Amino acid sequence: MVYELLTLERRDDGVAVVTLTNGKVNPLSRELLGELKQAADDLAADLPGAVVITGGDRIFAAGADISQFGGPDEAAEIGPLFHDAIGAFAALPRFVIAAVSGYALGGGCELALGCDYRIASERAVFGQPEILLGIIPGGGGTQRLARVVGASKAKEMCLTGRQVKADEALRIGLADEVVAPEQLHVRALALAGEVARGALVAQGITKRLIDDGIETSLDDGLAMERDGFVEVFRSDDSQIGVASFLEHGPGKATFTGR
Ligand code: COA
Repeated sequence: MVYELLTLERRDDGVAVVTLTNGKVNPLSRELLGELKQAADDLAADLPGAVVITGGDRIFAAGADISQFGGPDEAAEIGPLFHDAIGAFAALPRFVIAAVSGYALGGGCELALGCDYRIASERAVFGQPEILLGIIPGGGGTQRLARVVGASKAKEMCLTGRQVKADEALRIGLADEVVAPEQLHVRALALAGEVARGALVAQGITKRLIDDGIETSLDDGLAMERDGFVEVFRSDDSQIGVASFLEHGPGKATFTGR
């Protein structure tokens, strides 16, 4: 697949890096959303060890391409494009890290929210400014933001359109880490590389259980965990990890990813 609005790099350490390259402000146009969905599908078909999604230095992504908005008919087409593209990354059975430099607004913030973990540069700014256009977030913002920062903070952000700088994002849990701008990619790649060397089957099961578990009751979540705990023992890495512990002690296993 040839991408024009993003790059997809598969590194030797098992990390895949998706970089948005749609001009200066990275608007999430229909075309870019299509390429993002395709990239997620390509990754699902040949899974890497971990994924990093990043954008430009000054602008991670400025949100939906406002020039493509019209009326309800256009919205009925654009909304699913957002949900499909971001949902496809969220569904990957691998750790997906957003490395956010500069503005992550609207759909940019929503793309970061669809990732499992957000590392922000000190210059990062998050926000859901749709209300200032008289509209609402359409890429998962009303749902994923509330799950990450809580309902009241999500309402305040979405109802005012206020932008949140990196230090506040860290405080409210919207960013998981904040690092100096020159460390952003270094840190994201180091974390992704560490995870990519890990027990990938167990990671995929864990991610699924956490994501599905927070949507259900504790009892149902624990039932899912019991099944997952059986499932994971079918992996090669469970045998490798347990045998390595018994022979060499903790943290010495070399996993195969199977
Ligand atoms: N969709 C389409 N075009 C956009 C855009 C978007 N989401 N965001 C910015 N642009 C365009 C601007 O219209 C401008 O076009 P022009 O050069 O033809 O005039 C160009 O990108 C640069 O934007 P500008 O605002 O001049 O740059 P800036 O560096 O001062 O600010 C942002 C950058 C991202 C902070 C600012 O553009 C912004 O707030 N964008 C809108 C964010 C938003 O509301 N997103 C939610 C969409 S639902």
